Amino acid sequence: MRLVNKCGIITAAASGIGRAGAIRFAHEGAKVLVVDRDQRAAEETVAAIRATGGAAVAAIGDLTQEDFARQIVRTCQEEFGGVDFLWPNAGHPGAAAVEGLDLADFDLAINLNLRAALASVVEAVPLMRQRGGGSVLFTASTSGLVGSPVSPVYSAAKFGIVGLMKSLSKRFGRDGIRFNAVCPTATDTPMLRVFVKQPDDEAAQNEDVEELVKKRATGNAFGRTAKPEEIASAALFLISDEASFITGVALPIDAGATA
Ligand SMILES: NC(=O)c1ccc[n+]([C@@H]2O[C@H](COP(=O)([O-])OP(=O)(O)OC[C@H]3O[C@@H](n4cnc5c(N)ncnc54)[C@H](O)[C@@H]3O)[C@@H](O)[C@H]2O)c1
Repeated sequence: MRLVNKCGIITAAASGIGRAGAIRFAHEGAKVLVVDRDQRAAEETVAAIRATGGAAVAAIGDLTQEDFARQIVRTCQEEFGGVDFLWPNAGHPGAAAVEGLDLADFDLAINLNLRAALASVVEAVPLMRQRGGGSVLFTASTSGLVGSPVSPVYSAAKFGIVGLMKSLSKRFGRDGIRFNAVCPTATDTPMLRVFVKQPDDEAAQNEDVEELVKKRATGNAFGRTAKPEEIASAALFLISDEASFITGVALPIDAGATA
């Protein structure tokens, strides 16, 4: 078990990648704060963890609200006595088109992907410094490593995550805090279905959503989407002490898509 005596936070943990991470981390011995705005699904994730003898608590709220994005760090401290790891994983697909872009959609993409993540980091860093270190993992995307013609706003937010992560890794290395990012390609979650069928993507409107999902996978060497559990495995390695000499890394989990 790789996370024995560790406790920490995963956001957007009621579904997809975050849920797979919460279940895997708890299985590896961690106490996990399951953060999401979807109360029913978050409580299901917590129940699934507890049913197998793991430890988890749900924290429900909207991460675009700065108070909540900060509060989760204090909640973790209160519930588990510390914060060893933080995985701000929540994201928003953002608009597909630039023509006619409503800047409110840009704001939401930046707020959830970048601002909310930063708010929780701001709160966690002093605690981690006091404890002598910690591990922060962001969720970027292959769209944060190479440009994407279908998601420029999302790419901007995810490139921002990668820049933030690299800078923080250099700033807080001597405090024992590691910062890394996972960069998944298309992963089989509810968000992928939103992503491939954006309301402002005219070309996608007449196509079947599952066909669009399959098309997304043709650009990688395996020709399939990733499973959320495959992202969780890489996340586990980067969060755990096994990655003790790794910081500042944006790891593609993309079956060679960006190779
Ligand atoms: N699925 C993919 O293909 C893919 C690829 C690359 C990167 N990512 C990134 O992975 C992360 C997780 O995505 P996923 O595919 O697992 O998503 P998902 O759709 O499976 O789950 C998203 C979760 O986020 C929660 N959420 C949304 N807005 C919230 C808010 N304002 N406050 C609190 N909770 C909120 C939802 O309730 C949901 O439980 C995101 O950052 C996404 O950008 C996903």
